[in-house]
Amino acid sequence: MNVISRFVFALLVAAPVQSLAQDATIAAGKQEYMMGCAGCHGESGKGDGPLADMLEIHTPDLTRITERTGGGDFPFYNTLKLIDGRDVRAHGGSMPVWGDRFQISATSQRGETADMVARGRILSLVAYLGSIQQ
Ligand code: HEC
Repeated sequence: MNVISRFVFALLVAAPVQSLAQDATIAAGKQEYMMGCAGCHGESGKGDGPLADMLEIHTPDLTRITERTGGGDFPFYNTLKLIDGRDVRAHGGSMPVWGDRFQISATSQRGETADMVARGRILSLVAYLGSIQQ
């Protein structure tokens, strides 16, 4: 391929493929969110789920993560670390350590390790949260 056809290829094929992949990741993250997170953080992400009142500490509004961190870009990797929890928290606290939970529940297939499965689920959750920032 010459330079121009490469450029046209990138424009016509790669960009839509990237946004399709992004949409699919966000959709998977939303599904995961509704199952595992909405109970506390609320279906809207605003921290008003039915379980939130039962906790002793405030359940954060997840649509304002970017705002709380001073605006600018969504803090992707920091949010990933907070959800995973394996590096930042020992057991305990109100928010479950999802990295451990997902890893324990993963049934390894096709050579994937349970850790890979867990990280994939967390990545799609972060992509979803990034998409609902206000
Ligand atoms: C049992 C209630 C509960 C569930 C279920 C829950 N969370 Fe949380 N979450 C909390 C609480 C409470 C905090 C406040 C800090 C803490 O306890 O670590 C928190 C904090 C967070 C934070 C950090 C927010 C910030 O700006 O500091 C993120 C991100 C988060 N949760 C995402 C999730 C995701 C994603 C899920 C689902 C996979 C989830 N939470 C499920 C209760 C919950």
